[in-house]
Amino acid sequence: MSTDNDLRRRVGLQDKDATGSQNEKSNKDKKSASSSGGVGVVDVLRILGGLFLLNCLLSYFITNDSVLWGYRPWFVRPAAVMRYLQGPVSLTDAELLAYDGSDPNKPIYLALNGTIYDVTAGRRVYGPGGSYNVFAGKDAARGFITGCFAEDSTPDLRGAEWTYVSVDVPGFEEKEVTPEQKKLREQELRNARKKVKDTIEGWSKMFRGAGGKDYFEVGTVKREPDWLEKTPKRGLCAQAQKNRPKPKTAGKDAGAAYRPGA
Ligand code: HEM
Repeated sequence: MSTDNDLRRRVGLQDKDATGSQNEKSNKDKKSASSSGGVGVVDVLRILGGLFLLNCLLSYFITNDSVLWGYRPWFVRPAAVMRYLQGPVSLTDAELLAYDGSDPNKPIYLALNGTIYDVTAGRRVYGPGGSYNVFAGKDAARGFITGCFAEDSTPDLRGAEWTYVSVDVPGFEEKEVTPEQKKLREQELRNARKKVKDTIEGWSKMFRGAGGKDYFEVGTVKREPDWLEKTPKRGLCAQAQKNRPKPKTAGKDAGAAYRPGA
């Protein structure tokens, strides 16, 4: 009996030894796989990190300025970070005037459609004597559409869409308008309003620094809720009127077909 038990115990031990050595072997196999040819998560991260670093170096050597191919998010720009920590500004149109660049100790602000941007980095352009100093210290959204910079130094965009409406489209002041003309006008105005929106958004993007410029958003213009109703409506400035698109049909007045008596 005792010999049988002894034998069984011994065989059990041998089994355990065999399983243990198998585990060890598979562990060793795993280790050798990862050290010779197998790619682990850490290796992938190392490779990606290396590629990113290489990309940054390449970008810096080529652009001579940026490690992200010209993309400079606000949080890598000290002035923008400072402004962020101080919180957004809220200024009235009158207060905004103090930031037109005439005081070299103040930043240069420009507003567009109620949002204020810091354009100090463009002092050459927006500062005194700069080609676009007319936009500094104010919200001249309308001028951005019509191109009448001095005359349209106002955020009032009402009617500015006519800048993009073909000259053959009759205005609302015209008395005799056919249903076809009305339809054409509605269609053109719809497209023109979209163009105004897109144009303002395009400039806003630049002032937010999206195009690589060192500008950034700083706050909003404080206005009475009914400021627009209180502002007298204005017509399209002469220059924008003159530059309105010609009829799409080359050399022909496309609207003539619709105009009564034409
Ligand atoms: C609605 C019409 C226009 C608007 C709203 C407008 C607006 C602007 C603005 C805001 C800038 C400064 C961009 C920046 O911060 O870097 C600029 C730059 C410039 N614009 Fe215009 N622009 C208009 C039409 C024109 C036209 C028709 C010309 C040419 C005949 C022109 C020539 C220039 C030039 C040369 C610059 C570069 C200025 C510089 O860096 O010194 N712009 N424009």
